[in-house]
Amino acid sequence: MLKLGDDVTLYNRDCREILPLQCNVVIIDPPYPDFNNDHGKKWDYVEIENLTLPEVRQFIFWPALREFPLGYTAVHIWHKPNGQSNEHYERIFERYGNKVCRVYRIPIINYQTLPEWTPHPTQKPLRLLKQIIAQYTQPGDIVLDCFMGSGTTGVAAVKLGRKFIGIEIDAGYFEIANRRISEALAQSPLFRLTPGSSGRGLGESEAEQFDLLAAPLNPVS
Ligand SMILES: C[S@@+](CC[C@H](N)C(=O)[O-])C[C@H]1O[C@@H](n2cnc3c(N)ncnc32)[C@H](O)[C@@H]1O
Repeated sequence: MLKLGDDVTLYNRDCREILPLQCNVVIIDPPYPDFNNDHGKKWDYVEIENLTLPEVRQFIFWPALREFPLGYTAVHIWHKPNGQSNEHYERIFERYGNKVCRVYRIPIINYQTLPEWTPHPTQKPLRLLKQIIAQYTQPGDIVLDCFMGSGTTGVAAVKLGRKFIGIEIDAGYFEIANRRISEALAQSPLFRLTPGSSGRGLGESEAEQFDLLAAPLNPVS
C-alpha cells in the first residue's frame, strides 16, 4: 500500500483480494470481456458481478458487446468524435444513482501528442473523468477506482479536491499511475504531500478553472 499525503491511497494488487473498501463513489473501467486490449498482452477478464464493490453510486465503463451483467439506474454515452471505425460510442453504466442519462462528447486522446499521453492502451481522457467526478461527487468525497490503469481517475479526483483510492494489478501501469497522481498532487494548491497535511475540497465554480467548461455536456433527458 502506498499513501500519498492524507488523501490518496494506492495498491499494486489484485483488487479481488482487497475489496470491499469504503468510499463515496466507484468509477471503474474494468478489463473488457469481448476483446483483448493490450496489443497482444492478454488481460484476464474479471467478472464484475463477483466483485465485492461497496453499494454506493457506481460508474462502470462498458464498451463490450456482451450484455452488462448488473442492474443499473442510467446509461451514459461517451461520444468520441474522433473515434475510429465503429468505435464512436462507449456506454457507461450508472448504478445506485438516478435515471438521468447524459452524453459526454469528448475526443479520445491524440496519443503521443498530448502531454497527457501514457503507454497505457486504454487510457481515458482526463476531461471525461473530471466531468463525471465534478458532477457526481462533492469536495472531500472518496473516489474508488479498482482498475486504475494509468491513474486517470486519480488525477481527476486530486485536481478536483476529492480523495482517491486506486488499485492496479500491473506493476508497470501502477508506476505510471503513481507518477501521474503524485505530479497532480504536487501541482495542486489544494493538497500538500507532507505527512499530516489535510487538503481542502473545492466547489464546482472553483472546479471550472480546471477546464470543465471547455467540454460541452449535452443532457439526453
Ligand atoms: C481498461 S484498463 C483501465 C484504464 C484506465 N481507466 C486509464 O485511464 O488508464 C483496466 C486496468 O485494470 C487492470 N486490472 C486487470 N485486472 C485487475 C485486477 N484483478 N485488479 C486490479 N487491476 C486489474 C489492468 O492491468 C488495466 O490496467
